[in-house]
This record gives sequence, C-alpha cells and structure tokens, in this order.
Amino acid sequence: MTESNAGRIIELKNIRKSFDGETVLDGINLDIHDKEFVTFLGPSGCGKTTTLRIIAGFETPDFGEVFFDGAKINDLPPYKRQVNTVFQKYALFPHLNVYENVAFGLRLGKKLKEEEISRRVKDMLRMVNLSGFERRNVESLSGGQQQRVAIARALINHPRVLLLDEPLGALDLKLRKDMQNELKNIQMQTGITFIYVTHDQEEALSMSDVIVVMNEGVIQQIGTPTDIYNEPVNAFVADFIGESNILDGVMLEDYKAKFSNQTFDCLDKGFAKGEAVDIVVRPEDVDVVPVEKGMLSGIVTSVTFKGVHYEIIVDIGGFKWMIQTTDFVAQDEHIGLYIEPDAIHVMKKSKYSDQFGDYSSFSDELDELSVNTEEE
Ligand SMILES: Nc1ncnc2c1ncn2[C@@H]1O[C@H](COP(=O)(O)OP(=O)(O)OP(=O)(O)O)[C@@H](O)[C@H]1O
Ligand SMILES: [Mg+2]
Repeated sequence: MTESNAGRIIELKNIRKSFDGETVLDGINLDIHDKEFVTFLGPSGCGKTTTLRIIAGFETPDFGEVFFDGAKINDLPPYKRQVNTVFQKYALFPHLNVYENVAFGLRLGKKLKEEEISRRVKDMLRMVNLSGFERRNVESLSGGQQQRVAIARALINHPRVLLLDEPLGALDLKLRKDMQNELKNIQMQTGITFIYVTHDQEEALSMSDVIVVMNEGVIQQIGTPTDIYNEPVNAFVADFIGESNILDGVMLEDYKAKFSNQTFDCLDKGFAKGEAVDIVVRPEDVDVVPVEKGMLSGIVTSVTFKGVHYEIIVDIGGFKWMIQTTDFVAQDEHIGLYIEPDAIHVMKKSKYSDQFGDYSSFSDELDELSVNTEEE
C-alpha cells in the first residue's frame, strides 16, 4: 500500500464502457476500501455486472483506469489479479466431488503437500458449514449447499477481494436470509473485501458497509445503508430504496419547506430561498390523527393488511400518499396526517423528478383488481 491510496484497495477512475455503440458505463468513479462489504445495487441492465467484470479483468474499459493497491491494473489478466468471483449460477465441476471442487485452486500453481491441501479444504468447509460433505457428489447437493461449495472454492486461495454477482439469486427467500447471515459472518471472519451485486434493496441494506446505487450506467449515490435510506440524493434513489412519497415542494428558507399547500418545519438547510425541490416522506413516518389535529387531511382510498401494519392510500388534494399505520382506518374515512420535522427529507431537483413517488397508479391497479374479482 502506498501513502496516497490510504486503505483503498480498488479505485475506479472515470470508467467508460460501450457495447455496440450503446453506453453501458458512463464515468464510474469509485473507491473501495480494504475489508469493506460493498454492494452494487440497481435495476436490471444498469451496469452492475459489467463493473464487476472490469474489476475482475474479464472486460477492459474503453476509457478510464482501474487501480489495485495503488497500482494501475488495466492490462493485468484476470488470473494475475488477487480477485476471485462467485457467480449467480454455481459453476462447479460436476465430475468432481465437494473436496476436489474446493481443492481445485490449490492444485493449480505451486505444488502443495496433500496434507496441507486437506487441512485447508477442511477449514474452508467448516467455515461454510459443510463439514462431512467432502465425498459428496456436487450434483447431489441442494442449491444453497452448491453455492456454499462455490464460495469455499473462491476463498481457498485467500483472494484479497471476492466478487459476488447475485450469488443468492437462485435461492428461495428463507434460504436466502440464512445465507445472507452466513456470508456476512464469513466476510467478517476472513477480513476479505466483498463486492456484492444485487437488485434486492433489502439484501443490500442488511448486509453492506457501503452501498453503491447505480442507474443507467451512472453511480447515483454512495453511502452507508442508513445514509442511502434516510438521505437519498434524488428521486430515483428514494424510490428504489424502500417506499417513498415524493412531492413537488419549495424551500421557503432554511428549515421551512412548502408542499401540498402547507408550510412544514424540517431539518434541511442550504437551499436557495424559493428553490424548487423534491420532498420525500416515508410511509412509516406519517402519523394518522383526527382531521382537526392534522397538518394535512385526505380521504382513504384503499386499505391493505400487511401483517405488521396496514398500508393505506390517502388522496390529499389529488396526490395519492402511501402510509403505513398500525391503527385501523376504514376506506373512505376522512383522516388527518401529522408529519414531524425529521420525517421530511428535502432533495435537489434532478432528471428523475416527477417520475416517481405518487401512488395513484398503485391504487388504480388495486381498484382494477377489486373490480375484476367482483365481476367473477
Ligand atoms: N458482452 C455484451 N455485449 C453487448 N451488450 C452487453 C454485453 N454485456 C452487457 N451488455 C449490456 O450492457 C448493459 C449492462 O449490462 P450488465 O450485465 O452490466 O447489467 P446488470 O446491472 O448486471 O443487470 P442485471 O441485474 O440484469 O444482471 C445491458 O444493457 C446489457 O445488455
Ligand atoms: Mg448482472
């Protein structure tokens, strides 16, 4: 490590990549620190896998630089990089058993004693909870077990960085949750830097030290899970991570925002007086109160029981809000809403303004569904 790269294991500098004249990555700048769990999160086609493949050396950028430990590695072939990859589909060798699949990487390069190989394979299988599975044929394993073999195989050579491209995508929800915990534990035990790709926002929030939100080949935001959730930089991020009501607003002055024809106290400052902004209010941050106590009031247009809470859609002056509440309210009821200053988040206008954050189409879909069931 050099002084100048201070803990940064990977640096991407202004990476651009096109395929067939289509820009796929449009100026990616990213520092990844040693021992971090970093997640690339974004919708299908936004460039997550391409970024990962550039780090692994399977793709070369058209423009820009890739650094590893402060040294430029653009022209270094994949096998010379201290990086291994786990893919969504477990690319195991079907004709080899579990032991030989994991030992594979140790048998390449320099010759190790069989004793040493056996010790390391056993250690690795213990870490992924597969002790005793050494002689099993990999095709006789469940999906989750196969994926654990793939992880053991990728870790056996002690790479500095492990790239994981939707490694849990093929597993059912319960197994996914278990594997999320296991992966997080493995990452902490080994201290290996993990770069993880998913389009599942809940998975990203629960596992990562740092989340990189991407869309259309551009990084939208880099931050901790709480930063990304509580302080999204634009309407795309607010909408992609969790549910959000996103409203047109105006910053009247520091700590005062106007939206839905009302003035609210908030915690945001630093905008120009009268600046047009986007306002985010999360559904769980709105309190349902009697109309006369409300800062806003509206008519409940739908109520859905979600187990932990009710999800209701409320029409406030033509804009439909989603609100989550544990108190039952009836459809067509006139209710008041109370919003604390810290529940309001103000964002700069962006190209994504007005594209997200109104639940009118959501309740239309519900209306259509209920009409259809009534007809049957
Ligand atoms: N080898 C290739 N040739 C042509 N186009 C490609 C190639 N690889 C990727 N692309 C295109 O680049 C864009 C980004 O692809 P990429 O695989 O990086 O997306 P992703 O974010 O990983 O999406 P997903 O969540 O669906 O896996 C897509 O439009 C894809 O079709
Ligand atoms: Mg992909």
